[in-house]
Amino acid sequence: MLPTIAREDDVVVMIDQRKLPAQETYVRCKTAAEVARAIKTMVIRGAPAIGVAAAMGIAIGMRKSSATGTQKFAAEFYRTCELMAATRPTAVNLFWAIERIKRSFAAGAEAGESVDQIKDRLDREAGTIHDEDVASCRAIGAFGAEIVPGDAGILTHCNAGALATAGYGTALGVIRGAVEAGKRVAVFADETRPFLQGARLTAWELVRDGIETTVITDNMSGSLMRQGKVNLVVVGADRIAANGDTANKIGTYGVAVLAREHQIPFYVAAPLSTIDLGAPDGSAIPIEERSAREVTHVGGSQVAATGALVWNPAFDVTPHHFIAGIITERGIFRPPYTQSLKRAFE
Ligand code: MRU
Repeated sequence: MLPTIAREDDVVVMIDQRKLPAQETYVRCKTAAEVARAIKTMVIRGAPAIGVAAAMGIAIGMRKSSATGTQKFAAEFYRTCELMAATRPTAVNLFWAIERIKRSFAAGAEAGESVDQIKDRLDREAGTIHDEDVASCRAIGAFGAEIVPGDAGILTHCNAGALATAGYGTALGVIRGAVEAGKRVAVFADETRPFLQGARLTAWELVRDGIETTVITDNMSGSLMRQGKVNLVVVGADRIAANGDTANKIGTYGVAVLAREHQIPFYVAAPLSTIDLGAPDGSAIPIEERSAREVTHVGGSQVAATGALVWNPAFDVTPHHFIAGIITERGIFRPPYTQSLKRAFE
């Protein structure tokens, strides 16, 4: 399985996703600040993966703390959590993982554990978050395989694969699950401007797995659907509101509208850690805006006219009525999502 993120003693090691597929290099983060920077600068990206990175980053940060008293240690811990929370705003998995780590910390403090004991429990919790994410992706893959036709043309947007999770992937988990179930799958990977997660990362992962993959630029999907080459769309998610509205990589909304026009089922695959019942609908989801340079430049070369204004939202929201189902580790949830997603947590 692809080594997205791993812990080596007190170092968090990540494959550098900015450099793929040209170079397979690893970034070694020795401090919480280095992990936070890696999340911010997209060394690691993808909703579940940045949650895992934040948890591991806090754990190594606290492991290196020189505080001996619990009060000083607690102050440092909460500052480190804030540092992680300030990296990227949209993917709720990041905040979910930080909350989990905070709950573990609070349980240790309440039980009167020593600083060293709390350090150990933070390590264990971060490891559990990592391992549970892989297990969730595998379950998503098994449930999702059921909705994949025997001979399928599947369109996906961005990268919701092993690289975006602790391993196996969500949308790509469904594709892997279908292949493992013996289905014939041809994948169409949207290039995904401006960061090119589809062309660089999704295609790299799938080709490595021997799964037929065709890269298209983002403006080609309508034509492809019209030609009857796509019979299923599966994408990941960064945050799913209580009513099913789903934030995912910019461009997902357009794909959903096109899929509806061509009567192609549009599915979202995500673990429960991506569902935010505290957000009643998509309007409550904060959308990250990234630098203009991501749009004006491609591979270091300027492609947009100097002086042009730039808008670069990293995500959009697909309204729930475009979504045929949300594939999770607990099964596939169907509309009306306000009821079904609430039941998912019971
Ligand atoms: O900006 P990114 O690359 O972090 O955006 C990633 C996506 O939009 C993914 O589709 C989403 O996080 C799901 S990953 C399983």
